[in-house]
Amino acid sequence: MADHAPVLWFTGLSGAGKTTIAKEVQADLLKHGVKTELLDGDEVRATLSSDLGFSKKDRDLQVQRIAFVANLLAKNGIVVLVSAISPYRDSRNGAIGSFARGFEIFVDAPLPVLERRDTKGLYRRAQLGEVKNLTGVDDPYERPEFPALRLDTDGTQISGSVEEVLTLLAKEGIVDRN
Ligand SMILES: Nc1ncnc2c1ncn2[C@@H]1O[C@H](COP(=O)(O)OP(=O)(O)O)[C@@H](O)[C@H]1O
Ligand SMILES: [Mg+2]
Repeated sequence: MADHAPVLWFTGLSGAGKTTIAKEVQADLLKHGVKTELLDGDEVRATLSSDLGFSKKDRDLQVQRIAFVANLLAKNGIVVLVSAISPYRDSRNGAIGSFARGFEIFVDAPLPVLERRDTKGLYRRAQLGEVKNLTGVDDPYERPEFPALRLDTDGTQISGSVEEVLTLLAKEGIVDRN
């Protein structure tokens, strides 16, 4: 167990900043020579989970598949960054609890802010009725109760959120921080 690497599980609504922050953290870790993998929900859905939709059952399966791969990587010493909406508390807790060193990172911003960002145009399409089961709009999101970190991406710059994650990783002995 000792050589298991941490798994950082970024959860939150679409557009909250999960992918952005995880990629920046990954870039920083690369500079430190730390081996990492990013398991991004959208990428997994385009490949390993291309058979899945957005029912509760499918969303839970998506989380289980990501957790399975994350475990394989982490037990071989690779720091894993997961960025996935993962809206249901039980399946998220099940996944994070399955890691030797799992950390829940809640990437949080108010819905009106996300609607304004609308990076993928999903909120607008949901308003037009072109997209159904959008998390936070007409599908549930169960907020983390006791996350290791809550990143407020409305009140904080991207760099500030990245710094908070790196501080956590420093506490875990993954990177040096002065
Ligand atoms: N503090 C912040 N942290 C992360 N993203 C932010 C922040 N402020 C603004 N943004 C913007 O919000 C968007 C987040 O998109 P993305 O990372 O794809 O979200 P998600 O992966 O959670 O769906 C990006 O366009 C990013 O530039
Ligand atoms: Mg994303």
